[in-house]
Amino acid sequence: MSKLLVEKSGPLVGHVKIKGAKNSVLKLLAASILANEPCTIESVPELLDVEVMITLLEALGMEVSYQRELETIVTQPAKHLLCEAPYELIQKMRASFLVMGPLLAKKGVAKVSMPGGCAIGARPIDLHLKGFQALGAEITLGHGYIEANASNGLVGSEIYLDFPSVGATENIMMAATMAKGQTVIQNAAKEPEIVDLANFLNEMGANVKGAGTDTIRVTGVEHLTGTRHQTIPDRIIAATYMVAAVMTKGDITIENVVSSHVKPVTAKLREMGATIEDNDDSIRVIAGEALKAVDLTTLPYPGFPTDAQAQFMALLAVSEGTSVINETVFENRFRHVAEINRMGANIKIEGHSAVIQGVKTLQGAQVKATDLRAGAALVLAGLIADGVTEIDEIYHIDRGYPQIEKDLLGLGAKITRVES
Ligand code: UD1
Repeated sequence: MSKLLVEKSGPLVGHVKIKGAKNSVLKLLAASILANEPCTIESVPELLDVEVMITLLEALGMEVSYQRELETIVTQPAKHLLCEAPYELIQKMRASFLVMGPLLAKKGVAKVSMPGGCAIGARPIDLHLKGFQALGAEITLGHGYIEANASNGLVGSEIYLDFPSVGATENIMMAATMAKGQTVIQNAAKEPEIVDLANFLNEMGANVKGAGTDTIRVTGVEHLTGTRHQTIPDRIIAATYMVAAVMTKGDITIENVVSSHVKPVTAKLREMGATIEDNDDSIRVIAGEALKAVDLTTLPYPGFPTDAQAQFMALLAVSEGTSVINETVFENRFRHVAEINRMGANIKIEGHSAVIQGVKTLQGAQVKATDLRAGAALVLAGLIADGVTEIDEIYHIDRGYPQIEKDLLGLGAKITRVES
C-alpha cells in the first residue's frame, strides 16, 4: 500500500501541463468497440482506470496496444466480439458500464454486470436502461447481470432524461449510432466530454448533432470506420491545480487547458480574490492577498463541477468567513469533510449542504482518501497544513491523477510517495 507524505510547502510557482481527460478517454475506448477498423486515441493519461478499460476491451476480444511513452492507444476490432462484460471488471470501475451501449449497437445483445453503488452515492443506471428500452431493447435483470436484447436491431426514438446524466447520455448516444432512423436525446448532459465523444463518433462516420446542447440528434448509419483522435485536456486536474495556486498563495500557469471548460472554477476563484489570466489554451492563476469565503452549488455542466467540490472544500476551509457548498449532483459526496476536519477545519454537514467556517490554518494529520477527488482535496490541504500530512488509500488518487507528485514537485511542493 502506498502513501503520500505532504509537507507545508510555501507558494507553488511555475508551469504545469495538463494531460488528456480520464472521463473522456474511457468513453472513447468504449466507443472504439463500434469501429470495424483500428482506432488511434492520443493524449491518453497513464491511469489505473485506463488499464481497467483496456483489460475489459481485451476480455471482449479486441486487441489493444498502449504506447505509454507516446500516450497513444490503438484498438483493433475483435474478430469475434463477445457481448458479456464480467463482474470482476465492472466492479473495479463504474465507467466500464459504458460498454453496454456499443455492444448493444454492434451485437444486438449485451450482458453486463450490474454496477454497484460507490463512495459518493447509489448511482443508479435507470436512465441508461430507459434509453436502451426506448431504442427497442428488451431488458432483463438476473443474477447480478443486466441483459439487453434487440435481436431485430435498435430503432431510433425520442428519449427524455429526467436528469442530464453524463453516463446515460453517452451510453444512449453510442447505442443510437447504428440504430434505424433518428434518435433524439432531450435534457442531455452538456459536459465537454460528451462533445469529445460525439466528435470521435462523427470522425468514425456517425451522424451526431447537437452535442454540447441539451438536445442531441443521432441519425443511425450502417457501420463505423476507424479514426485518429486527440483526447481533450482534463478540466478537473486543471481545476485542482488552479485551487493549489490560490491556496498556497502561489502563481501557476496551467498549460493545455480549454479555458471555457473551467469557467465556473475561474469565476469562483476570482470571487475569492484571485487574479486569473485567461489565454484560451493556458491559464495563469495568481493568488490574492486574502482568501474570501464564497458559496457554491454543484450542477451539471456548465454549472460548477461536482468533481471540483472537494478541492474547493479544502480551499474554503482556510478562507476568511463562512461559506456554504450545496451538492446537488450526488447524494453522498461529503465523506472528505470528516478527513479535512481531522486536520483542524470547521465544517458541518447539513443535509446536502456543508457549512464551512474558515480557520487560519490546518494541521498535518494521518488521513485517508475516501474517493478520487477527496484524495486530491487532502493533498491540497496538506500543502498548507503545519507539519506533515500522511495520506492513505491513495490508489483512489491514482485512478484520476496520472502524475500528481511529479506535477506538484515541479511547482515546488514537498510531497513524497512511500511504500508501506
Ligand atoms: C460522470 C463522471 C464523474 C462525475 C459525474 C457528474 C465519468 C467516468 N464520471 O459520472 O466523474 O462526477 O459524471 O459530472 O465520466 N443518475 C441516476 N440514474 C442514472 C444515471 C445517473 O439517477 O441512470 C444520477 C446519479 O446517481 C447521480 C447523477 O445522476 O446522482 C449524476 O450522475 P451521472 O451524470 O450519470 O454521472 P456519471 O456518468 O456516473
